[in-house]
Formats: sequence, C-alpha cells, structure tokens
Amino acid sequence: MDVSDLLDPRLLVVTGKGGVGKTSVAAALAVAAARFGRRTCLVEVEGRQSLSRLFATQPWDFTEREFRPGLFGLSIDPEASLREYLDMFYGARRLSRIVTSSSAVEFATSAAPGIKDVLLIGKVKEMERRRRADGRFAYDLIVVDAPPTGRIVNFLRAPDATTELVNVGPVRQQAQSVIEMLQDPARTHLQLVTLLEEMPVQETVESVAALRDLGVTVGPVVVNRVLEERLDEAARKALDDLDAEELRGVLAGADLAVDAAAAAALLDVGDAHLRRLDLQDRMRADLADRVALPLFELPYLWDDRFGPAEVERLADVIEAAL
Ligand SMILES: Nc1ncnc2c1ncn2[C@@H]1O[C@H](COP(=O)(O)OP(=O)(O)OP(=O)(O)O)[C@@H](O)[C@H]1O
Ligand SMILES: [Mg+2]
Repeated sequence: MDVSDLLDPRLLVVTGKGGVGKTSVAAALAVAAARFGRRTCLVEVEGRQSLSRLFATQPWDFTEREFRPGLFGLSIDPEASLREYLDMFYGARRLSRIVTSSSAVEFATSAAPGIKDVLLIGKVKEMERRRRADGRFAYDLIVVDAPPTGRIVNFLRAPDATTELVNVGPVRQQAQSVIEMLQDPARTHLQLVTLLEEMPVQETVESVAALRDLGVTVGPVVVNRVLEERLDEAARKALDDLDAEELRGVLAGADLAVDAAAAAALLDVGDAHLRRLDLQDRMRADLADRVALPLFELPYLWDDRFGPAEVERLADVIEAAL
C-alpha cells in the first residue's frame, strides 16, 4: 500500500470519527479523481445533504446527476433502494409501490436491522457493476461519504448478519455479492479519515484492526487538518529565550508598542502553537507505527467558511501528490 494507491480502487468508502472531515475529504477525493478524467460519483447515505451544501448545488436525491463535468452526485435512501430492488428482482412495480411505504421499510429494518445497510450498499454495488452501452463501466470511481467509524464496522457486518437471518432468496444473494465487493481489494478500499489528536488516532487504530478482521482492505489513512509550522528558527529561539519584558523591548525596537499583558499573551500563543506541533509530531509517529499504513496529510485551512473553493484546495493537494 502506497499513497499513490489512494484513488486506485473503483469504490472508496470514506469513514472516520464524527467531525474529522469525512464529507470534506470525500468531496476532495472525488474532485481530484474527476480532474484526472475519471467518471466519478459521490454518494451520500445519511440524507443530510452535506455534500450538496458543500458544493452549493441543488439538493441531491435518488437520481444520479452530473453537477459538473465528470462528477455525479447521488443521495441514497433505504426506501428508494427497496423499491428499486423489488422492481429489479420481481419486476413488480405495483407491488413495490404498495410495499415500500416508510412503515414497510421500518418493519423490514426492525425485523432484520442489517437489511437497511444491505439495501444501501446494494445500490452502490449496482452502480459499481453497471456498464455503459460500449461496455465500459458507468463509473470509474464511486466515493461514498459513509457513516462515522463508530457505526462502520456494524455497517460492514450487516450483510453478514443478514445472510444468517435471511437464508434464502434474492436478499441473501444480494448480501453475499455486497460482501464480495467489499472484500475485493481491487474493487473496494475503506478510506479512513483522522486528525492528529489522541481520540481520533486511538479510534483509527481500532478501526483498522476491526476492518482488517472483516477482510476489507484499508487504504492510506487521510490525516486531515494538519497544522503547518508557522515559526521560523529565529522566532522559535526568541520564544525560548525571551521573557515578556524582553519581548516588549524587541518589539519596541521594531516600532511596535505593546503593553506587558499583550507581550505575555503573544508568548502564550507562540508556546501553544509549539505544543500543538509537538503533539502532532508524536501523534503522527504513533499512528504510522500502529496502523502500518501510509499517511496522507491535508492541511488545516484557516477559512471562516468551508465551501467549494476549499474543496478545490484540498483537491489540489491530492492531485499534486498523485
Ligand atoms: N482541512 C480542513 N481545514 C479546515 N477545516 C476543515 C478541514 N476539513 C474539514 N474542515 C471543517 O471541519 C468540519 C467538519 O468537517 P466535515 O463535515 O467534513 O466532517 P465529517 O467527518 O463529515 O462530520 P460528520 O461526522 O458530522 O459527518 C467542517 O466545519 C469543515 O468545514
Ligand atoms: Mg459528514
């Protein structure tokens, strides 16, 4: 596994702890892939419209739409998946219209919790296998903005649990072919996103182990929001050597008058920055050592608002590295 393998598979399931940047990273990976000329579909599964908001497009729904050249968006919901699934296997449009009310989905999913996930991943599998008229795959890459790490292992165990629950028929076949897709290293990578902080690192280490146990391939770990060194050698030395009074003197010499409290605050900010960089270094070494996977770092962007322009900037970093 190498950083250059980041966009290799046909399906990337992007996951990680809540709030680490799964949605942002999924978007940036898809944009980078589209720039390389790959027909790419971004998929949302939780119905939160996070991706359409990030790209400032119309809300996404169960119809794949090309929202910019080579880049498609889709929002999968279990009810629409169930309807499509019944159509596909039974050709029973009328039946499926009656069966797939929200309460029917509710019933099916409470009877066998795994079914909901089978339906969601089943839709992704259909897209992954779909061919165009000329025989090429419909999509070169599918990027799924998946649920947080806490749920992802269950999400992946779901088809397995369903296989046990539903021993016959097309649901079982569907569950099995979904597992096959997820466990095929040429087709699927689990794409973990993390931060260089204690809890996300710990959770990432545990997730990698659990995912490997489930027989899925984990791609290079994306480390998001990495702080850049903002102090040069001289500034570091000044922080080490000077007390607040001396700093005031130095700044006065440069025509910057600050009072004692401001000088002390400046030293504190500098120290905090150095401590965070130091923590980052330790977390990076710890993570790399414990997951035994290459790390791919994305910078912390200091913008008030994270929108389409910021996604492009993260995509720039990905593009440059590949
Ligand atoms: N590289 C970055 N630099 C600065 N801010 C970032 C970066 N990546 C993401 N963010 C910000 O961090 C926050 C969380 O990002 P995002 O929504 O992508 O996380 P998530 O893992 O999808 O969250 P959730 O678990 O709620 O789905 C957002 O406000 C986003 O704008
Ligand atoms: Mg998200």
